[in-house]
Amino acid sequence: MVNINTKFHLKKMDSGLCCNNIVLIGFMGSGKNSIGALLAQKLGRIMLDCDSLIEHNVQMTIKDIFKIHGEHVFREYESKLVDWLACNVQNAVIATGGGLPIFTHGINRLGVVLYLDVDFDVILQRLTDEERAKRPLFADIDKAHALYQKRAALYQHIATHSLDANVSCEEIVHKAWCLLKEKGLI
Ligand code: S3P
Repeated sequence: MVNINTKFHLKKMDSGLCCNNIVLIGFMGSGKNSIGALLAQKLGRIMLDCDSLIEHNVQMTIKDIFKIHGEHVFREYESKLVDWLACNVQNAVIATGGGLPIFTHGINRLGVVLYLDVDFDVILQRLTDEERAKRPLFADIDKAHALYQKRAALYQHIATHSLDANVSCEEIVHKAWCLLKEKGLI
């Protein structure tokens, strides 16, 4: 098995911070990255994409991590990344991978958690074949649908707030902004 401590070089700078990040969770293709980028721009914050951080740190694509080392190793990278984010990152918008909040304990340590709730049919319309091919857990549509059904309630449970994200990116960003403002979180 890959030794995460040697493969995953992230230096811890501080500990015990109370995080005020905005964390986006949701199924594959729910728009976490697109919404995250727009929301970060609107708020003047930086956006961090967990999948890209892992890919850069281990110098492998997610597809290859799954193929060569297996899903369990990818989940360990995610877990390690969340520990690092909790100690080092403030004021960011964080886009998670679809399985991260399910497999990693205590994502709420990072800040307010927003669930982008999108119907499976809408996700299918949004994802191109190329985008689906990058996602090992979306190789089979029926299996992806079953996974979606299994996870939907968990996302609801984990999130601080859920947003109906079946609308345009601009509308979702507007809704997220209004919600965060109303709750005094921005
Ligand atoms: C996964 C979602 C992917 C990526 C990996 C596993 C999942 O991220 O982390 O392929 O378990 O749902 P996106 O949600 O950005 O597609």
